[in-house]
Amino acid sequence: MEASSQISNRPAVQSPTASACTSGADAGSCGPETMFARSLWEKIMNVKGKVILSMLVVSTVIVVFWEYINRNPELGDSGSQKGWWFPNWFENGTHNSQEEEDIEREKEDNEELQLSDWFNPEKRPKVVTVTSWKAPVVWEGTYNRAILENYYGKQKITVGLTVFAIGRYIEHYLEEFLTSANKYFMVGHKVIFYIMMDDVSRLPLIELGPLRSFKVFEVKPEKRWQDISMMRMKTIGEHIVNHIQYEVDFLFCMDVDQVFQDTFGVETLGQSVAQLQAWWYKADPLEFTYERRKESAAFIPYGEGDFYYHAAIFGGTPIQVLNITQECFKGILQDKKNDIEAEWHDESHLNKYFLLNKPTKILSPEYCWDYQIGLPADIKTVKVSWQTKEYNLVRTNI
Ligand SMILES: *[C@@H]1O[C@H](CO)[C@@H](O)[C@H](O)[C@H]1NC(C)=O
Ligand SMILES: *[C@@H]1O[C@H](CO)[C@@H](O)[C@H](O)[C@H]1NC(C)=O
Repeated sequence: MEASSQISNRPAVQSPTASACTSGADAGSCGPETMFARSLWEKIMNVKGKVILSMLVVSTVIVVFWEYINRNPELGDSGSQKGWWFPNWFENGTHNSQEEEDIEREKEDNEELQLSDWFNPEKRPKVVTVTSWKAPVVWEGTYNRAILENYYGKQKITVGLTVFAIGRYIEHYLEEFLTSANKYFMVGHKVIFYIMMDDVSRLPLIELGPLRSFKVFEVKPEKRWQDISMMRMKTIGEHIVNHIQYEVDFLFCMDVDQVFQDTFGVETLGQSVAQLQAWWYKADPLEFTYERRKESAAFIPYGEGDFYYHAAIFGGTPIQVLNITQECFKGILQDKKNDIEAEWHDESHLNKYFLLNKPTKILSPEYCWDYQIGLPADIKTVKVSWQTKEYNLVRTNI
C-alpha cells in the first residue's frame, strides 16, 4: 500500500500564511486581511480534503481490484506474476517483458543446437558434405564457428585428447604434436592431454596455455608396433572407465606422428566422430583397403562400406569412445584367437565398427592431410598434417 501512504502524506505541506497566524501568541494579532485569507484557506483545505479523500477511496478500490485480478488464476496471466504485480503496474510492464526475455534466453541455452543453425552443406558443392544417414561431413566453409563457440562456450566444456608415444616415437614426434596441439586444439576451451608413454621420464618440457593441462601415464611397451597400435584400444577404454569419463565432455584419440597447423575447433565435436582417410576420400568403396577375409572380425564384404576412415583421429563423447575402443578390442582379441591379423590392424576394426555404428559426424581430410598427395583444390585449410613417416627409424619391426 505504498501508493496510498504517499497520497495521504501530501496535505502535510502547509501554507506559509496559516503557519504565520497559528505561530502567534493569540489569534487576534492576525489582521482582517489575514482572517479572510485564513477562512479562504480553510475552505480550500475543506475542498482539497474531500478531493484527497475521494482520490484515496478511488485509488484503494483500483488497487484492491487490480490485486484481485492478478491473484485470480483464471483472470490473471500466470502464477509467476504473484508477488511483483505492484511494481509492474507502475512500470508499464517492463518487468514482465524482462522476465520473458530471461525465460527466452534460458530456453535458448538449454536447447540443443540444430544442425542447420551452424552447418551449410551447400557451401562445398564439389565434395560429399552429408552422408546417406544425414550426418554432416565437416569441410572448411560449411560450418559457422562463431555460433558453435557461443553454444559450447556457455556449456563450459572440457575436451580430452589421448596420444600414445612409445619408444622412438617420443623423440621423433611427441614434442611437435603437443606444442602444436597446445596452440590449435580447441582454442579457448579447457583441454586435458592424456599422454601415454613407455618411459614418462622422457616427457618433453612444454609450456601449456592457461586452459590446458596434461596427465601422463606409463604403459607397457609391446614388442611389435602392430600390437602397440592395437593395445591402444584396450588402454584408452580402461582410462575412460577409470577417470576420463568424469573429466571431459568430449574425447579425441590421435596418433602422435602428425602436427596441428590450424584451428581444430568445436566444429569437430559430436557423439561419435570419424576421420576420412586422406588417400581414399574420393575413391570407390570397392577399392578401400578394408579387411576382406571372412575369418577376421573386421571383415567387410565388397559392395559394403561407406567411407574409409583413418584411425589417426577418432572421437566423441567418452561413452561412445568407450564403446568404439571396447568393440574394436573385442575384434582384435577374436582375431588373435583365430590366428589372424586384420590388414590394417586397429584401423580395420575401427572401419568395421563405423560400418555397424554410423558416426554422427565425419571430418573432411582437411583435418588429417598428407602433403605427399599434394594440395588439391578440395583442401582449403589443413588443420592437421601427417608427419613424414620415418618407419625405418621409429619402428623396430617393419
Ligand atoms: C508502455 O505501454 C505502452 C502500451 O503497451 C507501450 O506502447 C509503451 O512503449 C510502453 N512504455 C514503456 C516505457 O515501456
Ligand atoms: C556399442 O557397440 C555395439 C556393437 O557394435 C552396438 O551394438 C551398440 O549399440 C553400441 N552401443 C552404443 C551405446 O553405441
